[in-house]
Amino acid sequence: MGTRSTTRTRLEERVAKDRGRPRTSTVLWGGVQRLLAEASADRGSGELAVVDLGGGTGGLAVRVAGLGHRVVVVDPSPDALAALERRTVEAGLSDRVRSVQGDATELSGLLDPGSADVLLCHGVLEVVDDPVAALRAAHDTLRPGGRLSLLVAQWPASVLSRVLAGQLAQALHVLSDEGRRWSSHDPLRRRFDRASATALAEQAGFTVTAVEGTRTFSDLVPSASAESDDDRALLQQLESLAAAEEELLVLAAQLHLHATR
Ligand SMILES: C[S@@+](CC[C@H](N)C(=O)[O-])C[C@H]1O[C@@H](n2cnc3c(N)ncnc32)[C@H](O)[C@@H]1O
Repeated sequence: MGTRSTTRTRLEERVAKDRGRPRTSTVLWGGVQRLLAEASADRGSGELAVVDLGGGTGGLAVRVAGLGHRVVVVDPSPDALAALERRTVEAGLSDRVRSVQGDATELSGLLDPGSADVLLCHGVLEVVDDPVAALRAAHDTLRPGGRLSLLVAQWPASVLSRVLAGQLAQALHVLSDEGRRWSSHDPLRRRFDRASATALAEQAGFTVTAVEGTRTFSDLVPSASAESDDDRALLQQLESLAAAEEELLVLAAQLHLHATR
């Protein structure tokens, strides 16, 4: 009973804490919109063929479809795809979003090679068996000149957030672990930094054209400092300005790479 009430209290704290933070990074969404606009300009057409690899429940896919593009979400999870379907129906975008159940490495058998103008791969390389194979499959799905939007978790931010939370053993684990995991219970199999993410993209055949940091402060700010709408607006302003500062890139929880095939 004691344990259950403690657990509930911690959960409630967590929910309250999350409520004070921006749910989606406006910096990331701004970066995605820029990448889409550049791809549209290349194409000379407003409507793009977009693939969201490991798109999960489709939060990003629906926003992208809302801009007038056609999006195919490829994900191995039937539960995620069922949630995506509900989301697209609610948004009235069923004619613009298609879901395909499958693994990154099966892409060439699921979609026509060279058929996508833009491929989104957000939060996926951290969990797949073989990140190079996944990115190579992404590369082959894009048309020549097509664009990749790659979002990966960055490990230095993981060390910092754990130190600030007093989780020193986990911080030490990130520093000594090859995959930069905080323990064997870490849901991610690996984290990246600017050099390793860029090298991986290049190994798969991409040319990286920009690297932006997202969530530079959102995971570090104490809950009490992000509770009111005013606080949240300030935090978003901080995030936007920080994203433009090269020196702060290392602090970002996630790196957003723009790359071309
Ligand atoms: C952390 S979620 C990210 C979801 C979404 N892209 C986002 O940014 O919110 C990781 C997603 O990758 C999917 N995934 C896991 N293994 C995969 C694989 N081998 N190929 C493609 N997607 C995979 C999961 O089902 C999950 O939806």
